[in-house]
Amino acid sequence: MSKITLRDLKVKGQRVLVRVDFNVPTEERDGQIAITDDTRIRESLPTINYLREQGAKVILMAHFGRPKGKPVEKYSLRPVADYLHTLIDHPVAFSTDTVGKIPEEIISHMNEGDVTLLENVRFHPGEEANDPAFSEALAKLGDLYVNDAFGAAHRAHASTAGITKFVQQSAMGFLMEKEIKYLSGELAKPDKPFVVILGGSKVSDKIGVIKALMEKADAILIGGAMANTFWKAQGVPIGASRVEADKLDLAREIVELAKEKGVRFLLPVDAVEADKIEAGATARNTSRVTETHGIREGWQAVDIGHATVSLYQDEIAGAKTILWNGPVGIFEIPAFAEGTIAIAEALARSDATTIIGGGDSVTAVKQAVLADKMTFISTGGGASLELIEGKELPGIAALSDR
Ligand code: ADP
Ligand code: 3PG
Ligand code: MG
Repeated sequence: MSKITLRDLKVKGQRVLVRVDFNVPTEERDGQIAITDDTRIRESLPTINYLREQGAKVILMAHFGRPKGKPVEKYSLRPVADYLHTLIDHPVAFSTDTVGKIPEEIISHMNEGDVTLLENVRFHPGEEANDPAFSEALAKLGDLYVNDAFGAAHRAHASTAGITKFVQQSAMGFLMEKEIKYLSGELAKPDKPFVVILGGSKVSDKIGVIKALMEKADAILIGGAMANTFWKAQGVPIGASRVEADKLDLAREIVELAKEKGVRFLLPVDAVEADKIEAGATARNTSRVTETHGIREGWQAVDIGHATVSLYQDEIAGAKTILWNGPVGIFEIPAFAEGTIAIAEALARSDATTIIGGGDSVTAVKQAVLADKMTFISTGGGASLELIEGKELPGIAALSDR
């Protein structure tokens, strides 16, 4: 690998700024924010523990949700600091601001092996703008920089990329190293048939990757909100379903390209439609979706339907390599989780190499207690797709060359 890693740094006594991906799924329980899946936090422990053992002062930076450049209480990282404390059995200081006097004061009192978590970097507009002044303010808090946030490595933001201009050395952490090794190794030449399942809600992030995946995949199965955009592009009525209206041309282009390349490109043939997105909503399985018959007016597609599940199960059963990114329904609501669970079970049954990517997809697999049946679980959603696509990830490119 052309970039230096954590092992190349002399960290004893140094203030090491570590970018982690603590963008974990949460839910509100009795007015408190509870973490529903801690995979991303646990996966950063090898890096955090190594640095502590080596006598570094560990300063963690992370984003949480999309607060759009200003403080939003529900996106505070404080609950994550408390949670991390229970995992490492050492206090985790929490800095209520990301840069400036508050963190400077806390960090000046740190001893070797101590850990501080800074408040959400996205509370500042300079983070997503990759503003050099904000990058410099972050860099000022430490001596060395480590990027272990694989899940955010496709973002060219201040804490993932810009900061490297203002520190002496920037290295990849152990999680970053592990993810890159596996995803660029195993998936460079996947055993065929190679089947990709794409769903979730971040359509504009993920739709572009489909073109690149066509070069490798034998079949691409679409679910989640992604399906609505393709349906809409083909004139299928989608009611009030979530859709990305500016991607319709791209969606049509992708369908044409699949025909040219002979890639089986499958859209759901039915759906679960609901009158609202909440537990207790009225939901029902639609009949076959056609150009004239889709989702009822005012209703939303919330899951793939039974006919789609069996169609996709057949594809999965014949595959040698399967990549799954993005839940096929709003699985957080149990009534809309059937399709996602059925896909997870089909992958668990398969003898193929199974690779799961994305914070929410991984959560779904863990909730179904099937994680140990999968070959590789990636902490990256969009990041893993872009890596597989062969794109250079800004969070990796910015690190110091070996
Ligand atoms: P990942 O985290 O696995 O990369 P995304 O973040 O792209 O996946 O998307 C996950 C989200 O997609 C989930 O919170 C889920 O509720 C949502 N989702 C799935 N299907 C639909 C749908 N039909 N309509 C709206 N949202 C959906
Ligand atoms: C993710 O959850 O996929 C990563 O943490 C990146 O989050 P983002 O899509 O809000 O940049
Ligand atoms: Mg997600």
